Amino acid sequence: MIVGNIHTFKDYYNNEVEFSTEDHPFSHQPKNVWVVSRFRGNWLLTIHPSRGLEFPGGKVEEGEEAVAAAKREVFEETGGIVKNIHYVGQYRVKGKKETVIKNVYYAVVDDLVTRSNYHETKGPKLLKTLPDNVRSNHEYSFIMKDNVLSLSLDEVKKRFITA
Ligand code: GTP
Repeated sequence: MIVGNIHTFKDYYNNEVEFSTEDHPFSHQPKNVWVVSRFRGNWLLTIHPSRGLEFPGGKVEEGEEAVAAAKREVFEETGGIVKNIHYVGQYRVKGKKETVIKNVYYAVVDDLVTRSNYHETKGPKLLKTLPDNVRSNHEYSFIMKDNVLSLSLDEVKKRFITA
């Protein structure tokens, strides 16, 4: 369902999700970030040990700006040095216990450095294309299995990827 510019749908766990490309529709200080990342023409994901493949992201620390958290998470989880970063949208998940609000960014990484650890993940995964079957593919994290991914990619492709 779309009302105004807010898309409403269910996630993998049947929780209600609202997504919008408007400027911070749910919170000006979101506590979470998610970063659609690109390195030399590849999608740059991280391998989460329990959830599986997903774009990097995580929690904004106390006193930290969301965009700084986005760059930090890309570096910690993939070793990617962010060259450019753009706000894409924001989503809100009404979870069973709590509500989570995340900013979505698009980041262009211009260097991938090898780290001794990748902060609770197994590090970077580069993909030329994302498979069509992400939603049924057990290698992929549940956070890649709702309309947030397709809506974010549509916006990223429309605004930033010309080739
Ligand atoms: P950790 O400290 O990272 O273990 O956090 P947590 O388990 O408390 O999870 P978090 O606060 O990040 O999220 C709480 C719940 O919100 C999760 O169990 C999910 O149901 C949901 N959630 C969090 N992030 C996302 C997301 O990106 N997409 C969807 N659909 N749900 C999410």
